[in-house]
Amino acid sequence: MTTELPDDPRTYWNEEAGPVWVANQQMLDRVMTPVLESIVDLAALSPGEHVLDLGCGSGSLTLAAAERIGDAVAVGVDVSEPLVEHARQRSQDKDNVRFVLGDAEEEELPASDVALSRFGVMFFRDSVRAFTNIKKALTAEGRCVFACWQGGERNPWMTWPMAAIRDLLPPEVLAAAPGDDDVPSPFRFADQDRLVAVLRAAGFSDVGVDSVEKPLTFSGSEEVILDFIQELGPLSSLLDTLDDSVRPEALDRVTSRLRELRTGNDLTLPGAWWLASAR
Ligand SMILES: C[S@@+](CC[C@H](N)C(=O)[O-])C[C@H]1O[C@@H](n2cnc3c(N)ncnc32)[C@H](O)[C@@H]1O
Repeated sequence: MTTELPDDPRTYWNEEAGPVWVANQQMLDRVMTPVLESIVDLAALSPGEHVLDLGCGSGSLTLAAAERIGDAVAVGVDVSEPLVEHARQRSQDKDNVRFVLGDAEEEELPASDVALSRFGVMFFRDSVRAFTNIKKALTAEGRCVFACWQGGERNPWMTWPMAAIRDLLPPEVLAAAPGDDDVPSPFRFADQDRLVAVLRAAGFSDVGVDSVEKPLTFSGSEEVILDFIQELGPLSSLLDTLDDSVRPEALDRVTSRLRELRTGNDLTLPGAWWLASAR
């Protein structure tokens, strides 16, 4: 959930983000349950349909899909070795699940009836090339159903720490609006028109994009939530942009804001994602 990734996202997902995402898998999955449910509902999988999960991470969507397809196979593909290894460990007792270490953008993908993704499609180096490759793997009637984030302003669950320290941030950080450029970032497809154009350019038709707006909930002690947003959220990269002398104040502000926002053990804030489908 950093706002912009380094030059080669593959290095980032293997060396920086992968181990952190593995360590936080359970928390992430709890927070992202409404997203997973929205994808599975729209995909309406049937027994016998082979599934591909793009940028599968720890494999939660792959595993959920596998439960709905009978003896057909769900394959999760991800470029991050620590995440694929973790996904394999979680699925040792499942006969119809496979996890493949690979680049969905340029490697041949297993033939599938349905390609799914929960936030794995915003990080390709070249989106049109990647979706063209995905389309090639789909059967003639095959479909693609995935979730990607709407803009930061519609996702306070992700952006509240930045809002709390906005006036402490250097002007160049404030000026860079994530999602403006077509580069790997969580907000790359915030602009729905860009998303539709990419899917059409890759050869998809029947493109549909629905808006889903739902609250997302973090549960845990203040310390747990603060650790989580510093490890995975934009806060870690934002703190790096601050002078050492300002950083303690920034952390104090975020902590105070968290106390204001929390209800009991929960932090529940609005989230908004696009649910895209195409054939
Ligand atoms: C935001 S994470 C989402 C992970 C998972 N889908 C989930 O919901 O927990 C994005 C994932 O995309 C993967 N990824 C990025 N570029 C990729 C590529 N070219 N091919 C396959 N996976 C990729 C990353 O390694 C990472 O696991």
